[in-house]
Amino acid sequence: MESSVAHTVDQDRQHRSRTSPWPRYDEAALGFRNYWYPAMMSHKLRRRPVALRILGEKLLFIRHQGKCFALEDRCAHRGMPLSIGRCEFPGTNTITCRYHGWTYDVANGICVAALTDGPDSPIVGKAKVKTYPIKERKGLIWVFIGDGEACSLEEDLPEELLRPDAVLEVRVTLRAGNWRLAAENGLDPSHAAYLHRNSWLTLFRKFPAAKTNVSPQVVDQWVGYTQTAPLMEADYPGLGMWPNGEWWKWPRKGSPTKTQLRLPGYLRVNPFPAPSIVHFEWYVPVDERHHRYFQFSVKWTTGFKALRFRLAYWFWWRWLAHVQFNGQDARMVKLMDPFYAEEDGWRREKLYRPDVGLTTWRKHCHEHARAVQKIASVLDEPREEIF
Ligand code: FES
Ligand SMILES: [Fe+2]
Repeated sequence: MESSVAHTVDQDRQHRSRTSPWPRYDEAALGFRNYWYPAMMSHKLRRRPVALRILGEKLLFIRHQGKCFALEDRCAHRGMPLSIGRCEFPGTNTITCRYHGWTYDVANGICVAALTDGPDSPIVGKAKVKTYPIKERKGLIWVFIGDGEACSLEEDLPEELLRPDAVLEVRVTLRAGNWRLAAENGLDPSHAAYLHRNSWLTLFRKFPAAKTNVSPQVVDQWVGYTQTAPLMEADYPGLGMWPNGEWWKWPRKGSPTKTQLRLPGYLRVNPFPAPSIVHFEWYVPVDERHHRYFQFSVKWTTGFKALRFRLAYWFWWRWLAHVQFNGQDARMVKLMDPFYAEEDGWRREKLYRPDVGLTTWRKHCHEHARAVQKIASVLDEPREEIF
């Protein structure tokens, strides 16, 4: 009996792996290329270079005379991280590798000197490291991970985020788990009704028992869903009523929250955590098991009201929403990751009705993502010997 069950499961798995409806999504453990991603907060990049891994690629961010540059964090000579290098020629846009002194122009990545080979070194002008298009906007450094000419940043970001009156408060953390699990958790309509029902933020808020008639919707590149009025409580056959006895909770007022996910992997929740605040979160792949998590609280205002929003964020919303509420999500993603990474979870999962939002997202990525990130794409330069 046991062996026939195992046989069936195995066959089922093989069949599903042959017939995945979203093979490009399955391959995208390191995310999607040819998009702009947030890299770090601008004020964190000062005199010292910063090394970051993004979509599996090693990048170095450096600021010279106020201007910011990003290049491959790997010396063309023997692969030493350039991020431990020095600026030997103050006033120039260069960085010198710590090992043998190859010196690069950070604007174009070209080797402009090999200090230990003398000023006439034939390697000069021949060796090069990759540079990345970057932009500083809204207090963040954005980087384009891709090939060829970068599209405009405006093309990849919602217009409202770059508006002059958009006030952003941002939290950046490194989280465990593949970026796709984090993105799916963001969109997942049904976990909120259970996982978050006793968060600090929602301690006094009545939560539904179940979301009903979830139907997916793709509008202007955003994957979202609609639903009919949720079941506030229900009688589960043989078990009884649930939830019950939550007399201290009150129904939420105001318009319903709209949750939408967009390529290459960021979420908009409108409103959250309070009316007139919009929440964005980016899941930037670091490697296959980690992502950098950017949480934005955004309000469109100026002057005194902007200041009031910033204070409310730092006294209140940051801790309730970004730290505690989203911390519950972080824990789930971290605990779920081994199933997907080590136990064939992408084939073994058993999805249920409300997951139709997730499968719509997966298909959307499969059909519309510009390119799947493959780490070989940064390693495919041929070996060179120049004497
Ligand atoms: S490894 Fe960078 S100069 Fe040798
Ligand atoms: Fe959540």
